[in-house]
Amino acid sequence: MGRSILGLGVVGALVAGACAVGATIGACSSSSSSSPVTPVVDSGPGACSQSDSLQILFGKMYSAYVTDSTSHTFQIPAIANLNGVPATAIWTAVPDQGAVRFTPDPATGGTLVTVLSATPTLKINAQVGSACAQAELQVTAATEADWQAGNARYNNGVPVYPGCVGAKLAPELAEAGIDLPPPPDGGCPDAGPACTGCHGDMPTAGFFQGVQHTPEQTGGFTDQELIDIFVNGTDHTYDTTYVPYEYWHVFHTWTDIDTPAKQKAMVVYLRSLKPMDEDGGVNFGVLHDAGILD
Ligand code: HEC
Repeated sequence: MGRSILGLGVVGALVAGACAVGATIGACSSSSSSSPVTPVVDSGPGACSQSDSLQILFGKMYSAYVTDSTSHTFQIPAIANLNGVPATAIWTAVPDQGAVRFTPDPATGGTLVTVLSATPTLKINAQVGSACAQAELQVTAATEADWQAGNARYNNGVPVYPGCVGAKLAPELAEAGIDLPPPPDGGCPDAGPACTGCHGDMPTAGFFQGVQHTPEQTGGFTDQELIDIFVNGTDHTYDTTYVPYEYWHVFHTWTDIDTPAKQKAMVVYLRSLKPMDEDGGVNFGVLHDAGILD
């Protein structure tokens, strides 16, 4: 899981690495598509060729765009890594340069890509000196109603009751000698807890701090991979910085988000979060005391 952009960046680097050393950009194909790719610069001054030393993170980027309103901004950071170090690059988008805007991003040393249209697939090119790299950006078209539904669920105000969320983990916690508090008097709410209970800068539940899931962490996940994370608690890139996977996998199952429409809404909302660095940790003292976390 992406502790930082570099965590997930490894995935992107692997994808970018699928392009052969020394091949021209035009000869470079992404792992999922065999369609020919437009060269960045194929001749003349500034000609560049695909170089193994230059990689774009994320090698595959995913975002969204609301077509019937301009109220929301969809951004995703991209870094051109030259020999592992962020480098200043010339960024272009093919076939439609106007479909996105590139803004220097001091936070990552790369560029912030702002999505300006629902063009479903773009090639994003970075040129550093004579080296070029190419990534793909996929944009999911959405409506204002999608975003509103995602916003409503994300910020639904339902508290994280340890006696409810933790109940999914009852056997594991009992084994570790942790007694769960009882559920609230009225019973556990039907809706899952607000995502703000654990995520963002100021999570309300107090267990976690600074666990971000903005596009800087999640922009390399497909829509379906994101859905699997928040509905099924599955994430093939998970690292164990915060919580052991076996625990997270059991509680991070917000099964009230149970229709394709609700799931898309949450994906669209997550894609609209402002990209932020993650600088967080776990505040789950009871798990430390029980030896589950170091
Ligand atoms: C009880 C606390 C809690 C709640 C509530 C919660 N999450 Fe999480 N979530 C976590 C933890 C812990 C992680 C994993 C942190 C880590 O190790 O990266 C996580 C990870 C994620 C990730 C992956 C982030 C990454 O860097 O790869 C996404 C996406 C996510 N959560 C979405 C949601 C959504 C959407 C909701 C609300 C429907 C939600 N979460 C509610 C605790 C929570």
